[in-house]
Amino acid sequence: MSQHEMFAFQSSEELLQKAFDLGIELPFQTDLSPLFEELSLGSKRIDNRVAVQPMEGYDANPDGSPSELTFRRYKRFGSGGSSIIWFEATSVVPEGRSNPHQLWLHRQSVDGFTRLVEETRKEATQSFVAGHDIYCVLQLTHSGRYSKPRGMPQPQVALANPFLDEKEATLQIFSDKELDRLQGNFVDAALLAYQAGFDAVDIKACHGYVINELLAAFDRQNSKYGGFFNNRARFLTSVVKKIRREVSQIGIAVRMNAYDGIPFPYGFGSSRDESEEIDLTEPKQVVSRLIKEGCSLFNITAGIPYLFPHLGRPFDRPLPGAPVPPEHPLEGISRLISFTKKVQKENPEIPVVGTGYSWLRQYFPNVGAAVLKNDEAASIGLGRSAFAYPEAPKDLMNKGFLDPKKVCISCSRCTEMMRMGGSAGCVIRDKEIYGKQYKKLLQKGT
Ligand SMILES: Cc1cc2nc3c(=O)[nH]c(=O)nc-3n(C[C@H](O)[C@H](O)[C@H](O)COP(=O)(O)O)c2cc1C
Repeated sequence: MSQHEMFAFQSSEELLQKAFDLGIELPFQTDLSPLFEELSLGSKRIDNRVAVQPMEGYDANPDGSPSELTFRRYKRFGSGGSSIIWFEATSVVPEGRSNPHQLWLHRQSVDGFTRLVEETRKEATQSFVAGHDIYCVLQLTHSGRYSKPRGMPQPQVALANPFLDEKEATLQIFSDKELDRLQGNFVDAALLAYQAGFDAVDIKACHGYVINELLAAFDRQNSKYGGFFNNRARFLTSVVKKIRREVSQIGIAVRMNAYDGIPFPYGFGSSRDESEEIDLTEPKQVVSRLIKEGCSLFNITAGIPYLFPHLGRPFDRPLPGAPVPPEHPLEGISRLISFTKKVQKENPEIPVVGTGYSWLRQYFPNVGAAVLKNDEAASIGLGRSAFAYPEAPKDLMNKGFLDPKKVCISCSRCTEMMRMGGSAGCVIRDKEIYGKQYKKLLQKGT
């Protein structure tokens, strides 16, 4: 296996040489025009292939509505030129919030979401090229194992998992009845999201949260949600089916883990033999089934950030005290690209958003353009980079290149802030707000 290294490339040649030395075929091209090709999503036609990935900012008001800081973040995304804005994980019930400042959509907070969508769209249409419109997706979730609605862990899980359970913790396991009810909460939230003006909702099935856990609930006993594939896919499929039926005008998306990074029978996307290899048979089956039920957009990701963060967000610097990843970030990027490619190639008619590009800094457009050109994704999603450099698409459009002084340096401080219970943003490139907040959090912690 390759060794972890920090990004230290002075040129694209050096980057490509490293990929070559590692035996990685990194898609790359200098022609960036594929990034500015149109894409049809539902009844909308958007004018580029750059997406903002869902990124929790943990800056909601206590009632779950967006705060001034939330508005600021999304207005920056809107004016930056990305044509898909995938709004962050938003809880469908108060007890499923992973932080007291996570967004929570309910009848009393919906007006705030309506304004958020309106203002984000307004920024987008006013600030980018004429006719530019955005596709707004809201990610709906229950944080399950990672719920912290009052700031202290209050986990509720689909099943015990020796790779994830805290030692000697008493687990609160969802009953089938609770899961039946929770489906209704997702449908109610989808209706509110439609009323708020979102184009689509995403039923979050990734990163170890409850629907992702259910997909890997091989060992959940005596339950219609555990064991066989149909049972494990039941929750997600039923939610999609019900939203299709009850909120027929909204688009349905799913952000899904192709691979959890945990061996069978505790992880999704792992082979069933001793090899611990990746096996995408089931993830691909889930995608086919969801397409049949009316899901029209996918976003493929991997890993459980609390366990192996490098699988989903390759980085230079781990969180303080966390181990250095066992592989080169380019391995992780190439793996994420290959997951998206496999899903996209099997389903060429359904757009798939790819992830994990921020570590590439100013070269993400070259890699992204080649991925698009090869039909290996329909849109290039940016997470940490969107915090650091929300106007990257605009710069690309106007200048044809990115400013290396504005790119994300994958320092993990946005995640660190979040883990310290603060809001998340870019400590390095958005210093005025988040540099100060980061310092305060550090002082509080010492
Ligand atoms: C601070 C932070 C918050 C995140 N919040 C979410 C989220 O709300 N929903 C989600 O699906 N992924 C979330 N992610 C993961 C990102 O969407 C993305 O998959 C990951 O950062 C890799 O993409 P990148 O290399 O462009 O950063 C978050 C990541 C970070 C660092």
